[in-house]
Amino acid sequence: MSTPRKDDVSGVDTTGHEWDGIEELNNPLPRWWLWTFLACIVWSIGYWVVMPAWPLVADHTRGMLGYSQRAVVADSLAKAKASQSGYAKRLAALPAGENPADPDLQSFALGGGRSAYAVNCSQCHGSGAAGAKGYPNLNDDDWLWGGKLADIEQTLRVGIRSTHPDTRLNDMPAFGRDGLLTLPQIADVADYVLSLSHSGAVSPQAARGQTLFAENCTACHGETGRGNRELGAPNLADGLWLYGGDRASVIASISESRRGVMPTWEGRLDDVTIRQLAIYVHSLGGGE
Ligand code: HEC
Ligand code: HEC
Repeated sequence: MSTPRKDDVSGVDTTGHEWDGIEELNNPLPRWWLWTFLACIVWSIGYWVVMPAWPLVADHTRGMLGYSQRAVVADSLAKAKASQSGYAKRLAALPAGENPADPDLQSFALGGGRSAYAVNCSQCHGSGAAGAKGYPNLNDDDWLWGGKLADIEQTLRVGIRSTHPDTRLNDMPAFGRDGLLTLPQIADVADYVLSLSHSGAVSPQAARGQTLFAENCTACHGETGRGNRELGAPNLADGLWLYGGDRASVIASISESRRGVMPTWEGRLDDVTIRQLAIYVHSLGGGE
C-alpha cells in the first residue's frame, strides 16, 4: 500500500491501493449507477412494508397487502371446481350403473377417476391397475364381486371385509387352521382345484379331492369351481389366481383362508369422485 496521491497522467486521486506498480484511481461511481443503487434500497424497504418478507421464529411478516400464493392457489382451485360443478351435478344425477352418454361428461368422469385412482388406489392395485398378489387386477374380466358399472360402484362404496355396515363380506373357512380338513385332505382337494385349470388326466389324489370339494367348497365356489360373484368367491377354473396358482399357494389359501380387505370409500371420497372412479375402473378393459 502506498500513500494516496494524485495520478500524474489523469490528475485523479489514487486510493493508495497498488499491485505490482499498478495503482487504483479514486474515480466516483457513475451517477446513473449510484441512483439505481439507491432506488433499489428504497424499493426494497417499500417491498418489506407491503409484501410478506421477513421470517420470524414461528411465522413471517405479512405485509400490508397480506398477499399469499396459497390464497391464490386456493382461489383458482375454487374457480376450477365451480366451473366443473355443472358436470359434477349431472354425473351425480345419473342413475347408478349408467355410463354417461355425453362424451364431455364421460371425459370429465374418466379424467377425475384417473387422478383419484393414482392418489387412492394405486398403492394396492398398482399404477396400471394390474394388481399384485392378493390385490386383484382391475384390467381383466376376472371379477370377484362383479364387473358391471353398478357392481364396481357398490364395491367402492362399501368396501370388502371393511368397516362399512353393509360391506361386501364372505369369509372362507380356514380349513387347515380350524381343523376342518386334515393336511392330506387339503393336499387332495388342492390337487383337484389345480386340475380344474389344467388339462390332462385326473390323478387319484385329485379324484379323492373332488369328493371333498363337493362337500366343502361348492357352496361358495360352485359345482364346477367357477366361482360365485354374489359371494365374492373366485373362479378356480380359469387359471387366474389372486394368491398364486402353484401347489403351495393353493394349499395355503385352503389351509389359512386369505380374507383380503378393501377399504370402504364412502365418507372418505365424495359421491362424485366415487362415481368417477367406478367409471374409470369400468373403462379399463374388463368392465361388463
Ligand atoms: C389397502 C389396499 C387397497 C386399496 C387402497 C384399494 N383396494 Fe381395491 N381391493 C383390495 C383388495 C385386497 C381387494 C380384493 C378383496 C377380496 O379378496 O375380495 C380389492 C378389490 C377391489 C375391487 C373388486 C374387484 C373384483 O374383482 O370384484 C375393485 C373394483 C377395487 N378393489 C377397486 C379399487 C379402487 C377404485 C380403489 C381406490 C379408490 C381401491 N380399490 C383401493 C385392496 C385395496
Ligand atoms: C364360505 C365361502 C367359501 C367356501 C366354503 C370356500 N371358499 Fe374358497 N374362497 C372364498 C372366497 C370369498 C375367496 C376369496 C378370498 C379373498 O379374496 O380373500 C376364496 C378363495 C379361495 C382360493 C384362492 C383363489 C385365488 O385366486 O388365489 C382358493 C384356492 C380356494 N378359495 C379354494 C377353496 C376350497 C378348495 C374350498 C373347499 C375346501 C373353499 N375354497 C371353500 C369363499 C369360500
